[in-house]
Amino acid sequence: MIQKHTQQLNIVVLAAGKGTRMRSDLPKVLHPLAGKPMLMHVLNTARELNPAKICVVYGYGGDQVAQAIAANDVVWVHQAEQKGTGHAVRQVVSHLQDDTVTLILFGDVPLVQAHTCRQVVAQAQHGQLVLLTVDQPDPGGYGRILRDAQGNINGIVEHKDASEQQRQIREVNTGIMAMPTKHLVSWLQRLNCDNAQGEFYLTDIVAMAVADDVAVSSVHPKSIAEVFGVNSKNDMARLERMVQIQTAHDLMEQGVSLIDPARLDVRGDLQCGRDVTIDVNCVFEGKVILGNNVVVGANCVIRDASIGDNTVIVAFSHIDNASIGQQCRVGPYARIRPGTELASGVHVGNFVEIKNSEIGSESSINHLSYVGDSTVGKDVNIGAGTITCNYDGVKKHRTVIEDGAFIGSDTQLVAPVTIGKNATIAAGSTITKNAPAGELSLSRGRQITISGWKRPKKY
Ligand code: UD1
Ligand code: CA
Repeated sequence: MIQKHTQQLNIVVLAAGKGTRMRSDLPKVLHPLAGKPMLMHVLNTARELNPAKICVVYGYGGDQVAQAIAANDVVWVHQAEQKGTGHAVRQVVSHLQDDTVTLILFGDVPLVQAHTCRQVVAQAQHGQLVLLTVDQPDPGGYGRILRDAQGNINGIVEHKDASEQQRQIREVNTGIMAMPTKHLVSWLQRLNCDNAQGEFYLTDIVAMAVADDVAVSSVHPKSIAEVFGVNSKNDMARLERMVQIQTAHDLMEQGVSLIDPARLDVRGDLQCGRDVTIDVNCVFEGKVILGNNVVVGANCVIRDASIGDNTVIVAFSHIDNASIGQQCRVGPYARIRPGTELASGVHVGNFVEIKNSEIGSESSINHLSYVGDSTVGKDVNIGAGTITCNYDGVKKHRTVIEDGAFIGSDTQLVAPVTIGKNATIAAGSTITKNAPAGELSLSRGRQITISGWKRPKKY
């Protein structure tokens, strides 16, 4: 058997366009899709193909694109003036490696799947020029695929250059293609800009391949959605929903119960254990891990957090950069801010804000409190309206509440301060000095009664 040597892959991502119809100062390829710049989706797909090299042609927005993406496995090549797709690919020629196959991707076509690209590349590894094409019911604006009587591809004509008859063709160029690099290099040298737009069309290489007796073939994606390009905010919104529906579908396949898959937004990476339930209108950002049997109520926003087994996050809670233990109950209307760690069995109720604090197991902060820069022990009860006064106007100070302490309602704990083990603080106290373990501490005006006092009356 003859061992056929499989050529390595170079990938070129075209991302220089301004995206005028986005009507935005942000370069088009940096607009976020499911929480990540569009270009990042394309690069992640590119990486799945294990290429020897990835080159990105950037232009509009300058270094902003490279800085935002911060990928050190990418060769960034600048195209100062956008003179067409052929001109764009010309900029990277000196970076392409000999004896490879080159795959062209578009930075604004973010949903193309790796398995589709693999098919395109595999055919190119047999020496062909391979085009990813689709049949568009409404092909306006696209380059049309020209075929001869035998059905062989013999050219692409851009919409603006096409005759009325050619405009009837529904098979269109998606822009994604692959070919042996050595052919690409020689074809690029022969491009001219003698066309309706005065641009160097990459698509002109198809006729050159035919003239050079290089076979031209096509591949079709499984779904036309893979090749949707983004030109406007409307396109963005449509793709966003498609990605979210796919994510919801994948989560349900893994066993997650979604009350309504159409009302879920995952802008990052959501990992779920068994028997997780997520109610409507939740947003997950960054990396979020939900343990087994976690329930997330409606309208929660959870970013970069882990939630332990059997914990319930009740509706309208906001959790950011925090770790929530097992068997906790958080919300409704709780705000858990960065640097917070709740141990197991903690209860946090409505209108409670916790920042940069550790809360020990089985402790409760059930109503209307602010706990910041604090270390709270186990079995602590913090009454309604308690505030840790952590900021003196210049510095932040810590509050320490030891195991078993009971903080009465409407207490201010002026940090730095320590409440000892099993200490009790009477309601309505302003605590400025350490409260000793096991004792009752209080600071309040004594209650007096003025007998016979009359309430003012309206006449
Ligand atoms: C191109 C194809 C067309 C195809 C369509 C699919 C050509 C000549 N035409 O048309 O056949 O149906 O895509 O969407 O190739 N870009 C650069 N530098 C440039 C010009 C473009 O980097 O100088 C990038 C853009 O950022 C974009 C991609 O190339 O990612 C396509 O450019 P666009 O202007 O959208 O191409 P079309 O004219 O729509
Ligand atoms: Ca386009």
